[in-house]
Amino acid sequence: MKLLASFVQLPFPLLASMILAVTALPVESAQSTVLTPDDFDQTVAKGVWFIEHFSPYCGHCRKFAPTWEKLVEDNHNAADPGIHLAQVNCAVHGDLCVKHNVDGYPQMNLYRNGEYIETYKQSREYELLKTYLSAHAEPNSVSSLLPSPTPSPQSSIVQSAPEGVLSMSRDINPSGSVLALDEKTFKGTIDQGGVFVKFFAPWCGHCKKLAPIWTQLAGQMQHKLTIAEVNCEEHGSLCRNEGVSGYPMLFYYGGNRAGKTEYTGGRGLGQLKAFADKLSGPAVQELNYDDFPTEVVDHLVIYLLLHPSSESRIVNEVTEASHVLFGAPSLYTSSSPSFYEHFSVPLASSVLLAFKDHNADTPAASFIFSDTRRGRDALVKWLLSNRLPTSMELDSDTFQEVMNAPHKPLAVIVAAPSEQKDAIAKEVRDIGGRWRNSKGSPSVVFTWMDAEKWSSWLKGMYGIKSDALPRIVIANHSRLVYYDVDQFGERIQLTPTSIFSAVIGALQETIPSKHSENIVERLARYLNNKLVLLESSVGSHPWLTGFFVVTLLVVILWVFTRLIADNSTESSYAGNSPRKLRRID
Ligand SMILES: *[C@@H]1O[C@H](CO)[C@@H](O)[C@H](O)[C@H]1NC(C)=O
Repeated sequence: MKLLASFVQLPFPLLASMILAVTALPVESAQSTVLTPDDFDQTVAKGVWFIEHFSPYCGHCRKFAPTWEKLVEDNHNAADPGIHLAQVNCAVHGDLCVKHNVDGYPQMNLYRNGEYIETYKQSREYELLKTYLSAHAEPNSVSSLLPSPTPSPQSSIVQSAPEGVLSMSRDINPSGSVLALDEKTFKGTIDQGGVFVKFFAPWCGHCKKLAPIWTQLAGQMQHKLTIAEVNCEEHGSLCRNEGVSGYPMLFYYGGNRAGKTEYTGGRGLGQLKAFADKLSGPAVQELNYDDFPTEVVDHLVIYLLLHPSSESRIVNEVTEASHVLFGAPSLYTSSSPSFYEHFSVPLASSVLLAFKDHNADTPAASFIFSDTRRGRDALVKWLLSNRLPTSMELDSDTFQEVMNAPHKPLAVIVAAPSEQKDAIAKEVRDIGGRWRNSKGSPSVVFTWMDAEKWSSWLKGMYGIKSDALPRIVIANHSRLVYYDVDQFGERIQLTPTSIFSAVIGALQETIPSKHSENIVERLARYLNNKLVLLESSVGSHPWLTGFFVVTLLVVILWVFTRLIADNSTESSYAGNSPRKLRRID
């Protein structure tokens, strides 16, 4: 079995590097440094380095790319970032990645003065990474004065998304001050949920530094979030029970069902406040009828729950479910008859409305609470699938929320020349608005893109060339497919008729789709999956495994012959140094 495993591992890196050499994929972000076995050791020998090990064939790496690019850019712009970022391409330098114990992509490792410190284990969100980086940075000006921080062993997996219920009747953090907890008060307080607790020891240096910040945080979170602390010198057993293994340690307690989450981000006031805001964000707010127009003008999307004042059960249900939103969009409630009248809602009923695109007259979507309960899952699904505006610009800031939205929407993408972007954006908004009013379906998001800024991505992904703009495609990113003709077989035009025809064709899958990956990429992904499958079935199905190995070899052989053929026709690509291309995904 061992033999077999090493056997199947052999051809793949070879194959992958062949593929890479030929296709010269846009794998490198604009300014990111890419290290090789030749310069890795000497480069990371000095200072703090955070290295992303990636493969151009891994979907997660591509999704992560804009975040990485942003981090690189931030780092570049900082006066004294105290940390360096770089990448290693494991498809080309598999041996280097094996040496670094890389066992999944993308994997980010932290090195200090050439020594491996730890692997980043939190989720790959920009904010989390940003705080992680600043926590480990050692700006030149101070690094020599500080004792070298020991890597914390409990380092950082955020276990569960907090989803406690913040009770609305209770006045939260009424005095805006830090609540000191002990054995007697601890349990009662955390059971209520929505408590951010600092475990500390009075003698510890980092705790002393954090103390004034914690006090300020409590002030800023008045009426929003309980900010508490436990002195572990006086209440040692409590701290041991809570698994406190170092000082200071910060936990967020979400309430009975939600458990606790360790906070491992940066400890600056700004970073802590951002985290606390996120936690306290979903708390539902009452909305006055008179304030409604302002709210709609201020936000692209808001949710409004209309309920009879006796229906507190529904308010609680919605509040609880809304924690999946982490504060965006804002959720308001009202029992005001003026709202009922304005939207012609029968007085005794409860309904959740979504308002989008600054349109206060007609809700874009509604969720009606009937006697037959629709259940929490339906509610959560509704909340998640209506949170996007009907139309928006697609760029590296919005890419994730649109293309990887949990409800897997279709994205109508209008690639516009830079100088026409505003005019085209307006047209897209109009067309999106008409779609919303006639069909109302949230499974379509209308977007526009700066075709010059994202030209290589648009070309690579959807074959859009910059000389035939505007061009329109409809993409389902979760399947990596797109459509570029309408139901008449014509190239999609920037008109409601053409776009609606294509959208309906795409929704019903009656028009032909294209793959947004090329054949080599798809094959590589396919082989990757096969290898995983193979590894898991080696033990239980030796005969089947043998069959797979043979099939695999045949496929590999076929790829090689193809590549050689490709190579001779596209020899101008071979030997190109990796091109510097802007990536969005
Ligand atoms: C996009 O593809 C996924 C399958 O991966 C499918 O579940 C989803 O319904 C598609 N989206 C639309 C809007 O058709």
